[in-house]
Amino acid sequence: MDRIRIVGGNKLNGVIPISGAKNAALPLMIASLLTDDTLTLENVPHLADVEQLIRILGNHGVDISVNGRRERQGESYARTIHFTCRNIVDTTAPYELVSKMRASFWVIGPLLAREGKARVSLPGGCAIGTRPVDLFIEGLQALSANIEIDGGYVNATAPAGGLIGARYTFPKVSVGATHVLMMAATLANGTTVLGNAAREPEVADLANCLNAMGAKITGQGTSTITIEGVRSLSGARHRVLPDRIETGTYAMAVAMTGGDVILEDTDMALLDTALEAIRRAGAEITETNSGIRVVRNGAGIKPVDIVTDPFPGFPTDLQAQFMGLMTMAKGTSHITETIFENRFMHVQELARLGAKISLSGQTAKIEGVSRLKGAPVMATDLRASVSLVIAGLAAEGETMVSRVYHLDRGFERLEEKLTRCGAHVERVSD
Ligand code: UD1
Repeated sequence: MDRIRIVGGNKLNGVIPISGAKNAALPLMIASLLTDDTLTLENVPHLADVEQLIRILGNHGVDISVNGRRERQGESYARTIHFTCRNIVDTTAPYELVSKMRASFWVIGPLLAREGKARVSLPGGCAIGTRPVDLFIEGLQALSANIEIDGGYVNATAPAGGLIGARYTFPKVSVGATHVLMMAATLANGTTVLGNAAREPEVADLANCLNAMGAKITGQGTSTITIEGVRSLSGARHRVLPDRIETGTYAMAVAMTGGDVILEDTDMALLDTALEAIRRAGAEITETNSGIRVVRNGAGIKPVDIVTDPFPGFPTDLQAQFMGLMTMAKGTSHITETIFENRFMHVQELARLGAKISLSGQTAKIEGVSRLKGAPVMATDLRASVSLVIAGLAAEGETMVSRVYHLDRGFERLEEKLTRCGAHVERVSD
């Protein structure tokens, strides 16, 4: 199994191209199930989760062709992928496939909308809490779906004439349930109004793509989304928006090691709250023609308290990385996680590098130390694993991160991007 070896201590200097967002690419790919025409997605990142979803969609009858294109010499392999689902050949998403990635559960929306039935295994994914699917079920029931849970599967059927538009207000903000209800409602009879919907940029990206396919969605990016059902959707061409989590991760890496890096092909507006926290921690952040410039020279890292929240709040997917940064702050900071109840598994691994962190409920207290020291550590989930990489970049000596398959799920060419900015990072295959 691959490991990542980091020799810390170098500042980061150079340019890092930001990939297309994993969390936008996955629902966009799933939207291809809604039409018998071709959906073409540009700027699709090359990640293990994308490859896994390609297998899952193939199982349902989606014909997929990839035009690999080397966009920039040696830097990024953003791909254009064509998805064509002339017929849905199987409405079952089996446990063997769904258990590997939670987002694959989301096929339930399009399958139900287009075929009137779906049998989807209850999901797996990152072990960061119980992550139930009650909101999906409640929402689909509001659209008149009949749902039964049997033997680890969700069996859903639509009324004879198809799903029926309705008003549904989420009791809790859920990105995935918003994606699914929005997709299901595009082909429902009548109008659906979703209240307390997720406002994440990836939700708006999906809505924009669905509209390009002929859907009638308004209000995306706000907490009330209105979907007027249409009879059918057509193909479209859509570019996946930049990955705000990758952007924030590298910005935090530079804030931690010091240096001067341009994050290319990304957009500050996607992560205002996180960038503001990084600024308060002592980095200078400015907009450039091609993206974002992050600089930290001389000044030490200042402690900053954060609380994770749905968009536009501080993203839970950057919480672990920010904790990495705070381990070397000059003073004490507090990080409160409000989205997932078990998302502090990186704490004990950061402690192996010398970090001083104590947990009380959903809040971590981080007492900054003046230096971290490299050690063997274990990746526990996608975002936690990259926080260990960031900390390793700033630690003295060698940090060896095992279980890097977590990283490969969400970070494209991580070691190459960092190495080109002067870091000592290499993949070691056993
Ligand atoms: C998505 C992101 C993930 C991110 C998360 C929160 C993708 C592929 N993944 O995950 O990276 O960390 O949003 O920003 O886009 N919940 C319920 N019942 C449900 C559904 C969710 O209680 O039926 C809870 C979850 O357990 C969690 C909270 O709602 O506590 C938010 O989860 P949700 O927004 O649904 O996360 P995902 O869409 O799975």
